[in-house]
Amino acid sequence: MSEEQLERAADVLARARRVVALSGAGVSRESGVPTFREAGDGLWENYPIEEVATPEALHGNPRRVWEFYEMRRANMASVEPNPGHYALAAMEPLYEEFTIATQNIDGLHQKAGSTDVIEVHGSLWRARCLSGCGREIYPFPYPAPAVPPPCECGGILRPAVVLFGESLPHEEFRSATIAATRADVALSLGTSSAVWPAAGIPLITQEAGGFLIEINPEPTDLTPRFDVSLRGPTGEILPDLLERVKRRRAESAGRDGE
Ligand code: APR
Repeated sequence: MSEEQLERAADVLARARRVVALSGAGVSRESGVPTFREAGDGLWENYPIEEVATPEALHGNPRRVWEFYEMRRANMASVEPNPGHYALAAMEPLYEEFTIATQNIDGLHQKAGSTDVIEVHGSLWRARCLSGCGREIYPFPYPAPAVPPPCECGGILRPAVVLFGESLPHEEFRSATIAATRADVALSLGTSSAVWPAAGIPLITQEAGGFLIEINPEPTDLTPRFDVSLRGPTGEILPDLLERVKRRRAESAGRDGE
């Protein structure tokens, strides 16, 4: 990763007024949360999607699906946000709008202090009636009272996460699209950009004339579309970028003050 690219990203971020950030599992990797597709320890390497993360699996064997999500909820008990999460939270007050559209369901952005967070794939801490009474519980703390947990209507609850083949929650996706359209800069952080429509959120900013920055130790399917692609962990690069942006803002404030 070249110093020149870091400087270019910092220049653009320092001049921006509105930013949208799409985050993925890589942002939580340094907190000890496994990603999905990483060779060897990615979740989907060890758990068959068709058994634990589809509507068919949920209707066919809700207990198995809940066991999978209870395992992930249990693992979160000892997990804390990392410097990448905290840098994003610290960036928020520097902009008119700083919106995180996260694919992560772990709640770590909010735990780090980010307030403008859109959960486009749902949350581990939310449950919804599967039997259609429409009841939704948030927060739905760990452990669940039973696996699968009952709903007051006599039915059972489901994890309020987006399963493969399901649509994204309408309101959340609409808000993310609006934020991306209004943004001067879109960040794509720790995502393989393999899952749509979330992966396309930064491209909405590009279509609106905005600048695109990707941060990932590995190139992704969308790397060629980005103006700058920074190779490295978000837990190291985001705090660095934050400092560079703050320095630039202070210098230009100083110049304006002369
Ligand atoms: N910092 C930044 N990026 C990292 C780091 C790190 N420390 N460690 C790994 N990465 C990158 C990997 O190189 C990879 O490109 O994070 C990415 C993780 O990709 P995936 O495992 O595919 O996760 P994600 O992109 O979030 O998946 C999208 O797919 O499984 C579904 O619903 C699930 O929201 C998820 C969606």
